[in-house]
Amino acid sequence: MYRTHNCGELRAEHVGQEVTLSGWVQTVRDKGFMMWIDLRDRYGKTQLLFNEEQTGEELFAKARTVGREFVIKVTGEVIERSSKNPDMPTGDVEILVTKFDILNAAKTPPFTIEDNTDGGDELRMKYRYLDIRRNPVQQNLIFRSNLAIETRKYLADQGFIEIETPVLIKSTPEGARDFVVPSRMNPGQFYALPQSPQTFKQILMVAGMDRYFQIVKCFRDEDLRADRQPEFTQIDCEMAFVTQEEILQTFEGLTKHLFKQTLGVDLPDFPRMSYDEAMQRYGSDKPDVRFGMEFVELNDVAKGHDFPVFDNAELVVGIKADGQADKYSNKDIKKLTEWMQRPQIGAKGLVYVKVNGDGTFKTSVGKFFDDAALQKWADKFEAKAGDMLLVLSGETDKVRSQLNDLRLEMGRRMDLMQPDDFKPLWVVDFPLLEWDEDSNRFHAMHHPFTAPKKEDEEKMLNGDHETMKSLRADAYDMVINGSEIGGGSVRIHDRKLQEKNFKLLGFTEEEAEDQFGFLMGAFEYGAPPHGGLAFGFDRLCAVLKGQTSIRDFIAFPKNNQGRDMMIDAPSHIDDTQLEELHLDVTAEEKEA
Ligand code: AMO
Repeated sequence: MYRTHNCGELRAEHVGQEVTLSGWVQTVRDKGFMMWIDLRDRYGKTQLLFNEEQTGEELFAKARTVGREFVIKVTGEVIERSSKNPDMPTGDVEILVTKFDILNAAKTPPFTIEDNTDGGDELRMKYRYLDIRRNPVQQNLIFRSNLAIETRKYLADQGFIEIETPVLIKSTPEGARDFVVPSRMNPGQFYALPQSPQTFKQILMVAGMDRYFQIVKCFRDEDLRADRQPEFTQIDCEMAFVTQEEILQTFEGLTKHLFKQTLGVDLPDFPRMSYDEAMQRYGSDKPDVRFGMEFVELNDVAKGHDFPVFDNAELVVGIKADGQADKYSNKDIKKLTEWMQRPQIGAKGLVYVKVNGDGTFKTSVGKFFDDAALQKWADKFEAKAGDMLLVLSGETDKVRSQLNDLRLEMGRRMDLMQPDDFKPLWVVDFPLLEWDEDSNRFHAMHHPFTAPKKEDEEKMLNGDHETMKSLRADAYDMVINGSEIGGGSVRIHDRKLQEKNFKLLGFTEEEAEDQFGFLMGAFEYGAPPHGGLAFGFDRLCAVLKGQTSIRDFIAFPKNNQGRDMMIDAPSHIDDTQLEELHLDVTAEEKEA
């Protein structure tokens, strides 16, 4: 037997018992005639005491050969510690070792297996099995497991059925590039890995399954960020015979359940905000509403003062940073302006106004605005002495997006985003289509299967080009603390409308038929009204735990170049494999 107890289990009440434990050596403290080892497993740590007299000379000598991360098995009596450690659940006791085996030796690990390790990201990923031994990563994975179990429980209670959909499929456009898999049996043809199970879950609704869910891997070949991985997991859901309202209620219920069960947090009902309102008040469709600092539009008080930058702008808009006037020297403001002018943000400049409180102001635009004019700004912001106004101007969409970056940066600097302060909301009424100036075409704002609002259907079928820009959809995102946790929509379930949508998105009839004929065909055999959503499961884990990176909630994540550092993938394959897959023909050969 390897163990009678685990390493997190023993307490004062076990004193006097003989126990056997197995685990990894965390630390060794050798005092010559006595030695202590902290033995670790997933459940905790227990202190072992080796003492030349009771352990025996031979075993004691052997014990002195073990190093960090050796796997050992010990037997001994549980004794009360002379100096107890109140910070350790097993801190009242230790094991006086009388039998001892080395189960496996270990090389010195390339980084410390501690909560705060000295290992950099790449090293941790290469030796992920060592990294996962660390408590924080282990706790994240356990948390993820609990979240998945609670999700299944809740959805099963609500009558949802878990159904697996295929991984080798045809492209489903969700806005990213596909990963493709060559087919050996069909030369020159490829499967695509699903960006989401979107079309399958809709087909399941046509098939009468009514309430479907799946915790499922999705694959998107896109640029990676802290909250994006090329393969990630969704809680994917679909329901038939539902309105948007019922969908929102169901998944708000799931989210509240998950917060309650895993964190003990009671979330209030989620406020709803239209897409237009979110863009106007926060310049983002995923506003972080843990703090205010809402946008204040200034066109009526900023234009007409012979300041061409404002006069020529579509929108003059700003935020108020409470009590920051004194904290920002001219040099600090210059630095902040340069930060805003970086290509990632691209602001032309940044105007500031500091409120002195006696009717006077300190500002970068004093040449154009006297104190009386600036008082009008201050009134709009309801600013008080010591506040600082930061103002941008330009084309509406651009300037809102730049001010969103500034608002979030100021929120960070002013420490207004507490990780355990959860502020969820639904952003609703997204536009159906988005006009892209560069490619001169419409894109689906959510995806091509999203339905227009019932009252916009007629406009969509018969309206002109400009009308299409104003179509709204029953599409919604769940946002928590500035992170898009999930998104979904009510779907088109009618062939005519789906055909029209593909046409608007620039598909020819043949292309639409070739790629999505199966779905439109299914709509002709009695498709029920349906809709759903998908949560980003990795993001949900991270947000609940107050973290911004999803990587440490994924057992084996990829790095920013999309590589798995441990198994070293992607990698080259040999010529025989290439040949079998009909990939041995080079581009030049093909041309010839
Ligand atoms: P969407 O594309 O909005 O919708 O994706 C749903 C949620 O998945 C998460 N997500 C990601 N998480 C990690 N890495 C990524 N690369 C990544 N991409 C997306 C986000 C997002 O909100 N089929 C639709 C859902 C539906 O309409 O039912 C879909 O996939 O949290």
